[in-house]
Amino acid sequence: MSRDLIIIANWKMYKTAREATDFIEHLAPKIEGCKSKVFIAVPFTTIASAAACAKHVGVAIGAQNMNDAREGAFTGEIAALMLKEAGASFVILGHPERRQIFGETDELIHRKLLRAIQDDLQPILCVGETLVEREEGKIHEVLKKQIVSALADVPEKDIDKLIIAYEPIWAVSARQTASFKHVQDAHSFCRKCVEELFGKRKANRVPIIYGGSVNANNVKELVSQKDVDGVLVGGASLDPDTLSTIVQNCEGIR
Ligand code: 13P
Repeated sequence: MSRDLIIIANWKMYKTAREATDFIEHLAPKIEGCKSKVFIAVPFTTIASAAACAKHVGVAIGAQNMNDAREGAFTGEIAALMLKEAGASFVILGHPERRQIFGETDELIHRKLLRAIQDDLQPILCVGETLVEREEGKIHEVLKKQIVSALADVPEKDIDKLIIAYEPIWAVSARQTASFKHVQDAHSFCRKCVEELFGKRKANRVPIIYGGSVNANNVKELVSQKDVDGVLVGGASLDPDTLSTIVQNCEGIR
């Protein structure tokens, strides 16, 4: 079955609102007519202006994190409904930096995912192993645990909204990607985990994208892998020319 390619820029803690609109205006003509879906995950304060600017150019704007509660006395936190009203259509959950630096657990990520679905934000679930887990041969064990715990209790009808991002932690900001074979094997395993939970038909529809030192040179080969349905790009997405080259390099593959 053919799945569209999805290219998600994750800006992390870079770019003010003004920088974001300049970026989108610069990017728009360069990706006009391209077939891939383009998403940009921006800082919270940038969502409203980026969404207004991106509306006419077919680029989706989203957030990089959210709280699992609908609302409440949680100083410094942000709720899905607030993101949605500001113009976000998706949210990245369980990014390796959230897991590693901010101590997010599988249980918390699961609650966030349920909340995102309830409040109508498309969840981008990040999964991936550490270097130690890889060296200990635990990749499948880790991926299965992360996927099964995140997707527990998700109603079957909502699984169509999900995007999974495989981001091996050792390949993030590392100037080295995982090998193409490693990526394909991991993606195929992730799809198998979804299949065990929701059946083959649903599993075949879930986009599984790769993140970890993606750039304009390696993107084509990455998205040529059977189970790689796009990329989640950090550093290389901060320059509009580089991001547009990444999008252009995916043309004609699906
Ligand atoms: P880099 O592309 O900078 O390695 O970052 C990957 C990432 O974390 C995307 O979410």
